[in-house]
Amino acid sequence: MIPDLSVEIGSLKLKNPVMLASGTVGYGNEISEFMDLSKIGAIVTKSVSLKPRKGNPPQRIVETPAGMLNAIGLANVGLEEFIKTKIPFLKEVNSTLICNIAAGSIEEYVECTRILDKEEIIKAFEINVSCPNVKEGGLIFGNDVKAVGRITELVRGVTNKTIIIKLSPNVANIADFAEAARKEGADAVSAINTLVGTSFDIYTRKPKIKNITGGLSGPAIKPVALAKVLEISRRVDIPIIGIGGIMNWKDAIEFMICGASAFQLGTVNFVNPAAGVEIIEGLINYCNKMSITNITDLIATYKI
Ligand SMILES: Cc1cc2nc3c(=O)[nH]c(=O)nc-3n(C[C@H](O)[C@H](O)[C@H](O)COP(=O)(O)O)c2cc1C
Repeated sequence: MIPDLSVEIGSLKLKNPVMLASGTVGYGNEISEFMDLSKIGAIVTKSVSLKPRKGNPPQRIVETPAGMLNAIGLANVGLEEFIKTKIPFLKEVNSTLICNIAAGSIEEYVECTRILDKEEIIKAFEINVSCPNVKEGGLIFGNDVKAVGRITELVRGVTNKTIIIKLSPNVANIADFAEAARKEGADAVSAINTLVGTSFDIYTRKPKIKNITGGLSGPAIKPVALAKVLEISRRVDIPIIGIGGIMNWKDAIEFMICGASAFQLGTVNFVNPAAGVEIIEGLINYCNKMSITNITDLIATYKI
């Protein structure tokens, strides 16, 4: 028997809960030769901003025990180029498209959303208020619960599409941020973005990353991410998209039990670009073994 893997997030209907996380698959084209993207629930594109951004100078990536640090600094082609050269490829892929937006001001978030709202192929927006690697925007907003509420409210004003607010783990009470997003009209939150970290070369005594700090991702952050998802799930009635260190189907199931309606794969795409499709197989086998006919029956079924 094939279990029903479909999930709903706001008005967004996904064939399964597997999404590819922003910044780890470019605009879909970078991973398309390794997997059949039409099998995936949704693709989240690399953060796009109004104008192109070069990002931070190299070294921008370093491997760490059970994870990696990145300080890309939101390098991206900018809105105009995104619409002109990236959207055409994404139109060919039979997968739900979620566009991730980053900005240096509240007005820029609103302007980007307003312009992209016209693109029919984009079914939802993920608003990145949580990048740890840029001076303006990013964590300045992500650490300020009022700013997160205000961004949500204003973005809600310019689109009827599904809005997902991507939350930072670098805060004391993540549920406060989820609540602010819910109150101002977000359909869902995604959690988590990367954790601030660093790494030094013991011989040169210099940071391995030019930006000094970077965002930690990969298996090392999974327990933190799970705790954040659980915290939101226990306090706020809003769909959660779990992110952080998912390497296989077991990790994904754990996120759903802790409250996630869907989940995103990030760092694993660099290790095993076919992971998304393999995880779908794993979900089917698990559901069959556990006599689960609908994967939504798993969501927030923790026993505490
Ligand atoms: C190289 C790299 C680039 C990333 N770029 C973005 C980005 O542009 N926008 C964003 O919202 N998140 C970005 N992220 C964060 C991921 O989407 C994800 O939240 C994070 O890596 C945690 O998931 P993981 O442990 O599965 O990688 C990036 C992560 C990595 C590793």
